[in-house]
Amino acid sequence: NLKINIAIDGPAGAGKSTIARLVARALSYIYVDTGAMYRAVTWFMMEQGIGPEFPEKVLQLTQKMVIELIPGEDGQKVLVNGEDVTPYIRSLQVNGMVSQYSQIEGVRRHLVALQQQMALHKGIVMDGRDIGTTVLPDAEVKIFMTASVKERALRRYKEMNDAEGLTLEQLEKDIERRDRLDAEREISPLRCADDAIVLDTTHMDIPQVVDTIVDYCKTYR
Ligand code: C5P
Repeated sequence: NLKINIAIDGPAGAGKSTIARLVARALSYIYVDTGAMYRAVTWFMMEQGIGPEFPEKVLQLTQKMVIELIPGEDGQKVLVNGEDVTPYIRSLQVNGMVSQYSQIEGVRRHLVALQQQMALHKGIVMDGRDIGTTVLPDAEVKIFMTASVKERALRRYKEMNDAEGLTLEQLEKDIERRDRLDAEREISPLRCADDAIVLDTTHMDIPQVVDTIVDYCKTYR
């Protein structure tokens, strides 16, 4: 069986990570969540008290960080310098800052190089914002997943079992804000690759999306 690389991009809350993980499982591929890497950098910088307004300092520290992604039973673990930071990187605080740190050119260059290394031997499902355009422009399959803002907010809301006391309206605002920041930034903004398949999942359930992508991949094997 010839292995390929699969790039899945799209805006916040489109369900990329759930879908990417299931596609990877169906094909016995490795899943790489690049958002978790930007989140890990963000968490670490906030811990160190270094704001995104100090890009040189952020870059210097990023280059020294050891970021590991470990595939686990219920998703992927993220280690920073050996410490499991998975429980911290999806907090509201990190949500609020991650798009600012991800705009720093050197941080992107560093993380993109790491991501390209991970994909060298193929058999990777990678999700993010710039995978099909910048990280893996040669990926055999590129998917651009979207859904309406309302639907994406609703999915996040259900996923959170109101743990953080957020209303649906607040979630919609958060998603719109991140969409805007990610799409408007100068360096590799969120953009659909010319050769990507656009999947609007607003009215699709999870198995339908997974099957669509897996079927598509099979035409390549
Ligand atoms: O996918 P997730 O929502 O975890 O990503 C968090 C943030 O990380 C995004 O809002 C974006 O600012 C940044 N990101 C990025 N490039 C990627 C993946 C994520 O800039 N490839």
